[in-house]
Amino acid sequence: MDYQRHFKDKVIIVTGASSGIGLAAAKLFGRAGARVVMAARSLEKMLSLASEVSSDPEKVLCVRCDVSVEADCRRLVDETVARFGRIDILVNNAGISMRALFRDLDLDVLRRLMDVNYWGTVYCTKYALPYLLETKGQLVGVVSIAGYSSLPARSGYSSSKHAVRGFMDTLRMEHLRDGLGVLVFAPGYTASNVRNAALLADGSPQGETPLDEGKLMSAEKCADHLARALARRRSEVILTPLGRLTIAFHRLFPRLTDRLTYRFIAKEKDSPLK
Ligand SMILES: NC(=O)c1ccc[n+]([C@@H]2O[C@H](COP(=O)([O-])OP(=O)(O)OC[C@H]3O[C@@H](n4cnc5c(N)ncnc54)[C@H](OP(=O)(O)O)[C@@H]3O)[C@@H](O)[C@H]2O)c1
Repeated sequence: MDYQRHFKDKVIIVTGASSGIGLAAAKLFGRAGARVVMAARSLEKMLSLASEVSSDPEKVLCVRCDVSVEADCRRLVDETVARFGRIDILVNNAGISMRALFRDLDLDVLRRLMDVNYWGTVYCTKYALPYLLETKGQLVGVVSIAGYSSLPARSGYSSSKHAVRGFMDTLRMEHLRDGLGVLVFAPGYTASNVRNAALLADGSPQGETPLDEGKLMSAEKCADHLARALARRRSEVILTPLGRLTIAFHRLFPRLTDRLTYRFIAKEKDSPLK
């Protein structure tokens, strides 16, 4: 494919590369000839998947990293530079979701969402930024439609994704004259493990997804959109017609959108909304 040339020999860090969109993106970058750094907490899983990312073991590095731990993010960057000498692209993709009404929510759940989704992005970006500026590289924040138009029963998710978007938009302006590319990438519903791992009011994982994952966009298709956006050095991509429509409606008709969104989420299996 035409965009593959963009990634050849680039050094690309993907956080949350053990599953879903991050894993699909790591495989796509690997196929395009990039040197890929896979980061997540599940090191053994990543090591077992590394050969699917590149047939050349010299081109893949797996780093155990909990992005909510600042020291892990610093080490991720240090190990990347020690191995490959540069960073061209950082994809801040690691993320978790939640599902509960705020009034029922243990505040630790909200803190965890902010720690992983927001602070994880901030920490990785902070330590990678000097290297990205050297290469006039690219920075990605994977947000969500909920980072533009919030969802009920997703207070921690919606607010953390809004925060990531605000952070990325700020960095884009601060580095307007430095040649740094900053992409806010907003997938729509994509088949992955995110809803199984989503935290309930008490912080335990939901376990099951309330959606028919087979009907959603595949992680591979989503990664393909991400790659195209990077190759074109775009600054914002919002996926799916439903996602774009929701955001446009939210801006034009906010009260109607609240009611429609409520109805949509209330219809989900086992919705906390009545
Ligand atoms: N799927 C969707 O419908 C959808 C829609 C919009 C946006 N997104 C966003 O897309 C991104 C990827 O999600 P996904 O759908 O691919 O979900 P997923 O299959 O659950 O993958 C999430 C990834 O994040 C990693 N992760 C979770 N907590 C982490 C931590 N503390 N430190 C490091 N890595 C951590 C997980 O690995 P470990 O557990 O091994 O750490 C896993 O690799 C997320 O930011 C999500 O919010 C997804």
